[in-house]
Amino acid sequence: MNPILTPELEPEAQSATLISQQDIDTICSALYQDGWGVIENFLSAPFVDLLKTDLLALDEQEKFHKAGIGRELDFVRREDIRSDRICWLDNINETQNLFMQMLNQLMTAVNRRLFLGMNHYEAMYAIYEPGQFYKKHVDSFKGQRNRIMTLVFYLNHDWTAEKGGEFVLYPEEGEEPITTLQPKAGTVAAFLSEEFPHEVLTAHDTRYSIAVWFRIRDGEIPL
Ligand code: OGA
Ligand code: MN
Repeated sequence: MNPILTPELEPEAQSATLISQQDIDTICSALYQDGWGVIENFLSAPFVDLLKTDLLALDEQEKFHKAGIGRELDFVRREDIRSDRICWLDNINETQNLFMQMLNQLMTAVNRRLFLGMNHYEAMYAIYEPGQFYKKHVDSFKGQRNRIMTLVFYLNHDWTAEKGGEFVLYPEEGEEPITTLQPKAGTVAAFLSEEFPHEVLTAHDTRYSIAVWFRIRDGEIPL
């Protein structure tokens, strides 16, 4: 990645956005072999702090709203299915810009290795208050070829098992989880959006994350 010119930020925070070749290899191999993968400490602590500060400031400015399910005309609020609140990232400041540069680097690297043709992404902050959850779901329906790959980044320092809020990933068929993950600061989970049902178990402490979908924009589906 080219050096990122962000004079306001400490050099430490700037270099924190670089993705190592090793992490790129790990993620690409896992996606290729299994369709999913998890990397702990993918985001450095200073970068997690920048993102969490941005998230908290946006929440303070009341930029978050109750999440729903479905898109556009199909959108409905279903608090029995998910009860978190969300805020879309929109490259509105230096922190989001750094995060998006990192996503660009990652999307390009994964495309290069796995020929997925992803050309666009959307990213949202999510806050789960104690008692909140997101029931088992898939992020994209088969054949829609819209959301190709999901990434979830966690921003919770000092998370412990008692705090719940685990991310649980399931196989396409069957109820036995593939993996259950605590939402610890710096961890990223990545999986193919159409293939893996997943859920967020009830959190017992405030839980912060960023969900990202790498997509193929409508009308640009490779034949
Ligand atoms: C989602 C989602 C998982 C998590 O937002 O679609 O599944 O661990 N999030 O926050
Ligand atoms: Mn999901």
